[in-house]
Amino acid sequence: MAEQYSLFGDIPKNPQEQKPAETKQERDEKRLNFLKSELKRHNRLYHTLDNPEISDQEYDRLFKELVALEEQYPQWVTKDSPTQKIGGEVLPYLEKARHRLRMYGLDNVFSAEEYEDFLQKGRNYFIKENPYRDLSAAVLDTWWADPKLDGLAAEIIYENGELVMALTRGDGDEGEVITSAVKTIRNVPRHLGQGLPFARLEVRGEVLMLKRDFEKLNEKQKLLKQKTFANPRNAAAGTLRQLDTRITAERRLIFLAYGVGQVLIPEAADENGLTLWKTQQELMQGLADLGFAVSKESCLCGTSKEALAFCEKMEAIRDGLPYELDGVVYKLNDRTAQQVLSFTARAPRFAVAWKFSSRKAETVLKAITVQVGRTGVLTPVAELEPVSIGGVTVSRATLHNEDELRNLDVRIGDTVLVQRAGDVIPDIISVNLEKRPENTQEFVFPKECPVCHSKAVRYKGETAWRCVNIDCPAQRVQGIIHFVSKAGLDIGGVGEKWVEKLVENGRVQNAADLFTVTIKDLLAFEGMGDVSAQKFVDSLNEAKHTATLARFIAALGIRLVGEQTAKTLAQAFENIDDLAGASAEKLQTLPDVGPEVANSVKAYFQSEEKQNVLARLKEYGLNPQREERSVQVQTALTGKTILFTGTLSKPRQEFERQAEQAGAKLLSAVSKNLDYLVVGEKAGSKLEKAQKLGVRTLTEQEFAALLQ
Ligand code: IVH
Repeated sequence: MAEQYSLFGDIPKNPQEQKPAETKQERDEKRLNFLKSELKRHNRLYHTLDNPEISDQEYDRLFKELVALEEQYPQWVTKDSPTQKIGGEVLPYLEKARHRLRMYGLDNVFSAEEYEDFLQKGRNYFIKENPYRDLSAAVLDTWWADPKLDGLAAEIIYENGELVMALTRGDGDEGEVITSAVKTIRNVPRHLGQGLPFARLEVRGEVLMLKRDFEKLNEKQKLLKQKTFANPRNAAAGTLRQLDTRITAERRLIFLAYGVGQVLIPEAADENGLTLWKTQQELMQGLADLGFAVSKESCLCGTSKEALAFCEKMEAIRDGLPYELDGVVYKLNDRTAQQVLSFTARAPRFAVAWKFSSRKAETVLKAITVQVGRTGVLTPVAELEPVSIGGVTVSRATLHNEDELRNLDVRIGDTVLVQRAGDVIPDIISVNLEKRPENTQEFVFPKECPVCHSKAVRYKGETAWRCVNIDCPAQRVQGIIHFVSKAGLDIGGVGEKWVEKLVENGRVQNAADLFTVTIKDLLAFEGMGDVSAQKFVDSLNEAKHTATLARFIAALGIRLVGEQTAKTLAQAFENIDDLAGASAEKLQTLPDVGPEVANSVKAYFQSEEKQNVLARLKEYGLNPQREERSVQVQTALTGKTILFTGTLSKPRQEFERQAEQAGAKLLSAVSKNLDYLVVGEKAGSKLEKAQKLGVRTLTEQEFAALLQ
């Protein structure tokens, strides 16, 4: 048993199988902590990894629950609580810069009542704070309505009419520098023309991919056997963060402006361009006159009835628009009044997002099954009477875990409201108690694995019950399915169904066994034809040559190592042996790798069973190496001398390796012979000396551009 624990590395060893009686306060505290960490995780999935697991509405439900608990127990509000933050997080590998004026997010409303509430709060605040005698409360009656574009917020900065920098929103205070990427966006003006009044103009808006370009991109990705994107927003995010600007340019993004940050006009007393644009409407016209694209649907709304009508109209025409939107935004039209209302810690009081409700439908819960994942996590699944939601038939929904299940108190036979938002797994959002049949029973979470029947455990601080039997066939199957799935090696010809059958009949027990499966083995299964069997074997053989190190690492299913971390590891190590030999300390020097991930990686490679499987895979010819750039390829760096200084976003060795592969020679000190000095943060004497000698300095991004 002790050996089995080592597979999970960081799990404490006292299963909490029987819960002692808890007080309400204890339960609330637990729930609050759970909500905080869940919301943080979802924030990261959404903003940083572009890979959301839950819908916006589900997120909002959790968020509001946390706000309510924090209001009840203000002593538990901590600085790091998601309620105190804007959302995103700065990615570690792009250069960063601070916003001169913070980029806020928006609070959401979902109904006319919530919108009225928002208006009322604004009125109350205005009465209290209005310092301008001449500003009548009537200014609160006119709102500018915009579609809420579903892309990524960006700030594009112009100095004396020239585009000098572009930033993502990041955490609101600090964003990632995306200047080169933004310069490839065709509808972003590079120069604003002569004789303009501002010394500096920060234009804010949304970077988007049009639906048709998104579809084309995915088709191309499929052809190239590359990762496809779940939706236009993810595609836009992935494209914008591309260091290779040729790819960015090829993928066609667009920018729609919706506001400004700092506007510096010499002699003007403010930094918002108020002298130039008094209302939101004037501002939008001004931006359009400067050559920025703005959404055509925007308009002024007087009453909240008009606001509701705008929301309904946009929801109705949503599918016919060339871009995705997920709601509408209302902004107070008078910009002086906007300043009076100003901001809370998170969001403006003068603007709000009215989110579209995600697509929902009622249906009956027929059964609750429990699935075993590849790490042994038991996930309850709702088996539903099939129902069509927004054109897609839904017959299953996730119930997440025991706590969520208990909170919903969903029972077999219940009529439930199912929600499908984007591409995430459908969710049950509520139970219609009025339709609950008599004699329903509360669902009792199984205390054993439904497949191998070994005891399940729920460790302290975790939400999941797990089967900890590493021989559990369900875990094996899921592990092998993961190995060949899109998230792993993406081996198209190996179907899930056949993997299940091969494991069931004992022919395959791990990923290595797959490579020994013959056409004859496969043809023994009913329903398997010659063509499919050949494809199965061929695609595995092909993977031996095409698998990249990053895909291979992701395919292993190491706990806490997803695609992103796999990429990081693949950049830092030569091959699997090199990674297996790395110390936990070395692993932790990599971006995104903390002690938990490092321990999990270590634990994985310590397992004798895993070592055997890896050795066999190698023997069969699956042993990808880090992708090396051939030195023969001419780059702008070939034959040049280079040196790195200051704090960089990745370990220096990583940059040095890239430079060497591109044909550059590393020098150890600044001299006349140095062609380039790449400068990170807090660069000191080397930078000074380089400037004195006239040596060309490069930012990380400029260096990345030269690598191409
Ligand atoms: S205004 C202070 N207008 O929504 C005002 N935002 O949750 C801040 N968004 O990060 C933003 N369309 O990326 C505004 N017409 C629009 C928008 C919009 C989309 C996004 C924006 C922001 C997020 C806020």
